[in-house]
Amino acid sequence: MYKRLGFSVLSALVLAACGSNGGGNVAGGGSGEFLQPGGAAANQTPTVSAIGSQSAPIGHDFALDLSSFFSDADGDALTYTVSFSPDNGDFTVQNGVITGRTAVQGSTTVSVSASDGTASVSDSFIINSDFQQTAIQQAFAGAIDISALADYETIEVPDYIQAPNQVANPVTDAGATLGRVLFYDAALSVDDTVSCSVCHRQSHGFSDPGAVSTGVEGGQTGRHSMRLINTIFSDETAFFWDERAANLEAQVTQPIRDHNEHGFSGQNGRPGFADLTTKLEAIDYYQELFAFVYGTPEVTEERMQSALAQFVNSIVSFDSRFDEGRAQVTDPFFPFPNFTADENEGKNIYMSGPEDDGAGCRRCHADPEFSVFADSGHIGVFGVAGDPTATDFTNVKSPSLRELFKPGGATNGPFMHDGSMTTMREILDHYDAIPVPADPVVRDEFMASIDPQLVQMGQVERLNLTDVEKDQIEAFLRTLTGQNVYTDPKWSDPF
Ligand code: HEC
Ligand code: HEC
Repeated sequence: MYKRLGFSVLSALVLAACGSNGGGNVAGGGSGEFLQPGGAAANQTPTVSAIGSQSAPIGHDFALDLSSFFSDADGDALTYTVSFSPDNGDFTVQNGVITGRTAVQGSTTVSVSASDGTASVSDSFIINSDFQQTAIQQAFAGAIDISALADYETIEVPDYIQAPNQVANPVTDAGATLGRVLFYDAALSVDDTVSCSVCHRQSHGFSDPGAVSTGVEGGQTGRHSMRLINTIFSDETAFFWDERAANLEAQVTQPIRDHNEHGFSGQNGRPGFADLTTKLEAIDYYQELFAFVYGTPEVTEERMQSALAQFVNSIVSFDSRFDEGRAQVTDPFFPFPNFTADENEGKNIYMSGPEDDGAGCRRCHADPEFSVFADSGHIGVFGVAGDPTATDFTNVKSPSLRELFKPGGATNGPFMHDGSMTTMREILDHYDAIPVPADPVVRDEFMASIDPQLVQMGQVERLNLTDVEKDQIEAFLRTLTGQNVYTDPKWSDPF
């Protein structure tokens, strides 16, 4: 809605039919009194007191009643003909009142002609659409200019990718810009030390190098942080390792309410979410940003959810060597011309099922999105970080397998919900021969909830991969890394 497609055209809005006299030809003057045939008093031409420039701040409702400027000495009803230049549809006129709201910085010239049916008078004035962004400029100099927003809403989607599924809350430049500020703002934590970016670092594929993450006052998360890559293209629409958040909007304020993460839990003497919205409403740049995005400075959980989800959904990666190769073939099973022999062989093993001597990875992490299969069960990783005796069989989601590695080759690990695996070889060894727990009670629970695709005739499948094959799969997974996601300033810290 903030992108103006096409060019503005000067269009005239005629509000009421002009009288059959075809008025408007009596030019301004009209001062001389003379008698019309039949002796009736001459018509008085309408008059106008200069309207002067008006201001319609970006994102704010504007209204101007023309009857406070135009009058007619005879008391004739006035009809207005109004044109806007440029006319992008932001301003309209009805019953002599101009209303509208714009998201575009600039000025609109408004030409008004008021007719009493016989004579008319005209005036023109300018509506300046600017925005109060003093506090924004002060806080984010060089990073955010709301009259020249970064482009978030144009998400370049390769044609082999299916449509985004999060259409209910589409990414907008304004919403994602607010989301970016919220994402990087430590004011969103009870002691002003923790922002989303503490645990979701751009330099680390929007994950955390620690097995678990540290939130406010040393609080630890129960699981490993997840990479936030291509969430908008995920086959699985629920969020978290155990999929307990029904959608991204529901997810993004949960860390804020989490006692150990941002701390606005309302528990053990900690403030609750309402205290956070009050806190943010007192911050000048949020007053400007919320007014800019939503028309009023009010901070609500729903507005924060929408903006944060838009920012997270804007983080996309399609500049990997995989994408480069995929664009050159008609079928993903064909060898990619830009791949080495090992990468192509690794792709083959990844894509093929165990019945074809493959590793069957594609059953759950299908190309080209590499998000997790929506109905996946667990994969035999059931540890609980920090508690070697506890078990957790609820983890059935994985982040997209894109960006497992940084462009330089280091991992964005550790991996898995408990952060228990640090190398790709460890992961491949796990899938090759998934260990079954010895304790009969744990084993029953394990077998009851493991993904059925990993069980063949009552036994957990064995892939029998060779070392060479494991290296080839790893070589292939390394092709799923792009560059831009680590460096694009629109996803970086604006503070
Ligand atoms: C203290 C560390 C920490 C902070 C702060 C934090 N996260 Fe997370 N994030 C995690 C962990 C850990 C998980 C996985 C938790 C789980 O599954 O139980 C996670 C999971 C997520 C997911 C789910 C991804 C998926 O694919 O399912 C999203 C989205 C997310 N975080 C966004 C955010 C946003 C937005 C914020 C800020 C409002 C935030 N996180 C703050 C640690 C953190
Ligand atoms: C039955 C579905 C399934 C199959 C088959 C499968 N995975 Fe997974 N994968 C998952 C799930 C679910 C997780 C998350 C597990 C957890 O953390 O407990 C995961 C996690 C991962 C992770 C860690 C992701 C991260 O961000 O920490 C990698 C890497 C991975 N899988 C690679 C592979 C490879 C390579 C194969 C083929 C050898 C494969 N997977 C086969 C479902 C599957």
